[in-house]
Amino acid sequence: MKKKRDATILAHNYQLPEVQDIADIVGDSLELARAAANLESEVIVFCGVDFMAETAAVLSPEKTVILPVADAQCPMAEMITAGEVKVLRERFPEAAVVAYVNTSAEVKAESDICCTSANAVAVVESLDEQEIIFLPDRNLAAYVARFTKKQILPWEGFCYVHDRITSDDLKTARSFHPDAEVLVHPECRSEVIDLADHVFSTSGMVRHACKSRSKEFIIGTEVGLLHQLEKKCPGKIFYPLSETAVCINMKKTELSDVLDSLKSLKPRIVVSNEVAIKAKKAIERMLDIT
Ligand code: 13P
Ligand code: SF4
Repeated sequence: MKKKRDATILAHNYQLPEVQDIADIVGDSLELARAAANLESEVIVFCGVDFMAETAAVLSPEKTVILPVADAQCPMAEMITAGEVKVLRERFPEAAVVAYVNTSAEVKAESDICCTSANAVAVVESLDEQEIIFLPDRNLAAYVARFTKKQILPWEGFCYVHDRITSDDLKTARSFHPDAEVLVHPECRSEVIDLADHVFSTSGMVRHACKSRSKEFIIGTEVGLLHQLEKKCPGKIFYPLSETAVCINMKKTELSDVLDSLKSLKPRIVVSNEVAIKAKKAIERMLDIT
């Protein structure tokens, strides 16, 4: 069906192992956005959550972009609306608006530039403005604030999967595996980041683990990443920082959904022209600087 439809299957690092294994490209949000912008195939099947497929549709409006499970949504992306961004702009007219890609296309359309967990600091540093409205993730905002002199004005959104990982979870994991390096995602709380050895995007963790001399790693992100880590870094051992770090929405897509969506070319993600033109500017501005 994939050949018949001239489709490319993209999968995020948190997808079920069997879905990752049939994908053409597996990666983090930045890698998948880049891939979506440069694909030749007519159809993109996006195994991930809604904002990722929307980003692909904005970047490639001529392509058919499919999200196999329509209600695979990121709750953090629902935590801010375009109307709220407009109000922030009125309150802070001198500030630039940086939108994490985990936002709706409407929110991106009201923002100056997007960022992902892999490039958030570089994006903020690339801007002339000294005041930065950073939305929606308060934890990523606090992480960025560590590396810039600019004033970061955070929105109070969060990822429930990362926000519930505690410093006690980290201490317990370290006590069981004292030789392991601790890698965490910047969506984690500051107190967890303080205790970690390194902070990376999901694919950043894979790259680091493969080249590090360490043999064991404690992984502070969604458990789906362990499949990619084990595949890409054979011989190394990975422990989840928290067994309960599971993103329910990332686990909704099953192999049968991928097949059904290839057969029916549904559910299709379409973004209105008006929103897509503005959102594309913010996404492309990000892709241009990193
Ligand atoms: P990455 O861009 O690091 O893959 O993160 C995406 C995400 O949704 C994290 O929760
Ligand atoms: Fe959204 Fe968190 Fe799931 Fe990532 S892990 S898709 S931020 S809910």
